Amino acid sequence: MRRSLVVGNWKMNGTLASSELLAKGIIAGLSDNNADIAVCVPYIYLPRISELLNGTSLSLGAQNVGDKVSGAFTGEISAAMLSEFNCKYAIVGHSERRTYYGDTNVSVAERFCQAQQQNIIPVLCVGETLEQREQDQTFAVIDAQLDAVINLAGIAAFSTAVIAYEPVWAIGTGKTATDEQAQEVHHYIRQFIAAKDQTIADKIQILYGGSAKPDNAKGLFAMPDIDGGLIGGASLDAESFLKIYQSI
Ligand code: 13P
Repeated sequence: MRRSLVVGNWKMNGTLASSELLAKGIIAGLSDNNADIAVCVPYIYLPRISELLNGTSLSLGAQNVGDKVSGAFTGEISAAMLSEFNCKYAIVGHSERRTYYGDTNVSVAERFCQAQQQNIIPVLCVGETLEQREQDQTFAVIDAQLDAVINLAGIAAFSTAVIAYEPVWAIGTGKTATDEQAQEVHHYIRQFIAAKDQTIADKIQILYGGSAKPDNAKGLFAMPDIDGGLIGGASLDAESFLKIYQSI
């Protein structure tokens, strides 16, 4: 049985004060429901939120990680730096990074490897745009996104990774994929991995992201290949994030 996981992606929101309040609110409402829970906070808040999370079951993550070990890469944050603040997870390849900041399948694969070299679990985001879906390219896009990482890291690397299916057209739009639409792609991803390694496919957590909310989480999480969620907007409110977590 796979363990479920709910991850909040705070994106570029909040202040230090509001982030502390949010983290404290989530911690106060944590219940033991046999699922893991984490928040991916803005880099600059990692030290403070790391202190608050210490000794709790709420894990910490970053929203990205540098694609190199260290050196003259202005503005980047290395995996070694993240590990100093107890980051368990790092999101790589979020569609906002791919769309606005030029992350490519290859650079995402490099970020994935950098995270793993510091024992940080990469949360690899994959997903198609609306145009790609309408042109029936969803699976081809996902193949390319997964293949780039498999080519660089090898399939074995997926034994310590999480995949998040985030259809770009569902992110921040209020348009959630239906339970069946999401399940279809999650199943496809698991089969894609299974063709290379059945054991890893059975074990890997595949999260859904894209306008997941307290009122639609239960249906999504009930799908056989959906192991939890990567939550944007609804993770900025402790109560709604906890409700989603409790929907597992
Ligand atoms: P929303 O939940 O705001 O649609 O964002 C999803 C997401 O991008 C999580 O990484």
